[in-house]
Amino acid sequence: MDAVVALDLMTPAGGAEWAKLQDYVLGLVAAKQADPGADLLSTLIGIRADDGDRLGELELAIMVIALLLAGYATTSHAISIGTVLLLTSGQYDALCCEPGLVAPAVDEVLRRQTGRNAEIMPRFAHVDVRLGDVEVRAGEPVLASLEAANHDPARFSEPHRFDITRRPNPRLSFGYGPHHCLGAALARIELQVVFAGLTAQFPGLRLTASPDQLPWRTVFADSGPQHVPVAW
Ligand code: HEM
Repeated sequence: MDAVVALDLMTPAGGAEWAKLQDYVLGLVAAKQADPGADLLSTLIGIRADDGDRLGELELAIMVIALLLAGYATTSHAISIGTVLLLTSGQYDALCCEPGLVAPAVDEVLRRQTGRNAEIMPRFAHVDVRLGDVEVRAGEPVLASLEAANHDPARFSEPHRFDITRRPNPRLSFGYGPHHCLGAALARIELQVVFAGLTAQFPGLRLTASPDQLPWRTVFADSGPQHVPVAW
């Protein structure tokens, strides 16, 4: 996965990594077609549209890769950004002492992570529509900033403060409406397991590099520190 996301898919090297991943997933599709189980891919293989149409092998493979890509960089960046936020804000220790804070802590990490992901998905108006004070004509694009929504002072007191006890936390980190993140529940559970495990096993964790010096990477529309050097 790292090889695929690190390379420009338009280059021969990126295309070759993509082809390897696609071949691997096509192999999985064939295996599940031959021997279906109680899993997502087998379910997708069995889905039949109202007109009897089914997803072809390549469509299935692309859907699996899309799920892998959508859920990979986003969640791994939430882990690295969240670790840095917890350690630099001094709230890592609070989470160690009070593990019950892990759910609001994850929501606060997600609130602060935005601006680093999925911000560039435009929407196009089908008809003329008024949004607040602005008239949007049919066909025009609208870019809704999740980062701005997550820092709206009308919704969040002291929006620029990272606060793992923030409740309620009506963050829009997974988008809104028909394209709301398919993996939102999974991502929250993954992050809760990670931060609960990290604080339980490494109570003395500390950064060994300045947060400003961390190597950042951008994967498609999502950015975060590639490594977070720590000691304990
Ligand atoms: C911290 C983790 C994650 C964040 C912050 C995140 C964020 C988002 C956002 C903001 C959108 C909406 C994009 C739009 O408005 O067009 C989205 C869509 C999506 N996400 Fe996530 N996501 C995360 C994890 C995951 C995971 C783990 C999966 C799958 C296993 C996933 C799969 C998807 C898919 C398939 C869509 C497209 C939904 C659609 O267009 O109908 N995401 N995500």
